[in-house]
Amino acid sequence: MKFTVAILALAGTLAYGALSTTNTVAAQGKSQWDGVYTEDQAKRGEPLYGQYCASCHGPDLAGGEMAPGLTGGEFTSNWNDLSLGDLYERIRISMPQSAPGSLSRQQNSDILAFILRKMNMPVGQAELSTSTDELKGIKFLAAKSRKLTDRFLVEARATARCSGPSASASCPASSNAAPSWRCPWK
Ligand code: HEC
Repeated sequence: MKFTVAILALAGTLAYGALSTTNTVAAQGKSQWDGVYTEDQAKRGEPLYGQYCASCHGPDLAGGEMAPGLTGGEFTSNWNDLSLGDLYERIRISMPQSAPGSLSRQQNSDILAFILRKMNMPVGQAELSTSTDELKGIKFLAAKSRKLTDRFLVEARATARCSGPSASASCPASSNAAPSWRCPWK
């Protein structure tokens, strides 16, 4: 009898332990670092990007005279802490700027997968969804961990402030150049 009680207590402790571990993982949530698209999907997105986006955002997503880059420090810090759903909606509703809203949900999702591929985000087992609600459950984070994100943001802001014609006199002379770096802490 005593033995049974002990077993039950032990089982309870184990079940509780398993539950609280799951909760912790769920509370931290998913981000684009967790493998949220597939290689095949990014491959489908590549020609779509070439056809509908590259003329303004550049063949390598670095931006052009008319449009900002879709990778790199400035883009990443702009979208940090928002969700893939937010980014998806931004593209779905306002792009391509010449014909906003003209692409299907599937096409937009495939293009987003291609953009993640170009950012060197890890691939996973399942494709990126076409549901805005599901995509809102995936955070966009500048770097994999909170600590690296903080460092990334500090440097991205400093680079933005110290590059181009608006660089202030307090910037080191060598930093008066276009930001050319990407997240180095993957
Ligand atoms: C005709 C030129 C043009 C085309 C084509 C175009 N864009 Fe844009 N895009 C812009 C401009 C200009 C901006 C910045 C001004 C604005 O917000 O509209 C922009 C902004 C964006 C932003 C926000 C960038 C940021 O820093 O927050 C994203 C994301 C984006 N475009 C994605 C796309 C995608 C994906 C495609 C292809 C489906 C596309 N664009 C096609 C001109 C274009």
